[in-house]
Amino acid sequence: MRRSVVIGCAGYLPENIVSNSELAKQLDTSDEWIQSRSGILKRHIAASNELTSDLAYKSADAAIIASGISVLDIDLIVVATSTPDVTFPATATAVQAKLGAKNAVAFDLQAVCSGFVYAMATVDNFIKSSQYDLALVIGAETFSRILDWDDRSTCVLFGDGAGTVILQAEIGNGDLNDRGVLSTHLHSDGRLHDLLYVDGGPSSTGEVGYLRMEGKEVFRHAIEKMSSVTIEALKANNISADDIDWFVPHQANKRIIDGTARKLGIAMEKVVLTIDKHANTSAASIPLALWTAMSDERIKTGDLVLIEALGGGMTWGSGLLRW
Ligand code: ACO
Repeated sequence: MRRSVVIGCAGYLPENIVSNSELAKQLDTSDEWIQSRSGILKRHIAASNELTSDLAYKSADAAIIASGISVLDIDLIVVATSTPDVTFPATATAVQAKLGAKNAVAFDLQAVCSGFVYAMATVDNFIKSSQYDLALVIGAETFSRILDWDDRSTCVLFGDGAGTVILQAEIGNGDLNDRGVLSTHLHSDGRLHDLLYVDGGPSSTGEVGYLRMEGKEVFRHAIEKMSSVTIEALKANNISADDIDWFVPHQANKRIIDGTARKLGIAMEKVVLTIDKHANTSAASIPLALWTAMSDERIKTGDLVLIEALGGGMTWGSGLLRW
């Protein structure tokens, strides 16, 4: 059976770091409030001339160098983003040009904070169906550009960044011991649009708009839906939470992650947390967390890794992979 195996992973965070205390100088908030409600200590903010494609390119380039592949062998580039450089063409095509990956097909995918899980599922299906062999799955965001910096209930929660995972086709036995993506489960419910959205766009207001959120409702749906889609992954693979080596959730809020892990019975020692270092980077948060845990040698070849996310739409999903 063809499997999509991780052969490289890297992240990129913009140089400019903004602490909670710095935000509190211009906003009616405090380091104590932000830390206690979200677990966030700081966030990285892209420079004004730094585009989503620049962040994506830097993470992709680092992953390509680390994996030793040739850019000319890349068949497919999928960028999960809700903050594209421009309305069109796709940010993925800008990344393709910057990399010189002239043999690749490149497109964007938009599922907000679930974007990376959706992109991984999409790429895995292209690889499993033998259409492509080598793909970049990128989550990249400049959420700082769509935040209302006067709205303290949202702007303190997000940051900018990018992460890339390289997936390559390998033949496995078709069982749980195979390396690569073992399953993906995706869901959407468009009726929940108003809980988390951007109040603008090309065909509505003609302006980019700002992120709007019903925080308490998002919180409730996040724990419920991320738990259920994780249980779906465990059941589909006939395993229990104890079998997981690393749980890498979307980094939206430490309280959501704690609540979900508790509900699933996953020990906090197995949970990868990066929310404190760079806030919620939306589609970039899972690849950044994978990169962090791989770089500090927690995630090793052969480990069973479970990812999950929820985002605007609402969209949610999970993926099980053996590293
Ligand atoms: N600083 C200080 N006070 C604030 C701030 C702030 N930055 N923001 C809101 N407050 C105030 C509110 O005005 C309110 O004041 P009031 O009681 O006088 O009206 C008070 O703090 C409490 O506000 P709540 O909304 O009740 O705070 P809550 O405990 O629900 O925490 C939070 C808010 C952090 C947004 C929480 O609801 C949450 O995390 N929701 C999930 C949202 C999320 O993670 N979204 C990410 C995108 S979706 C995803 O990625 C899964």
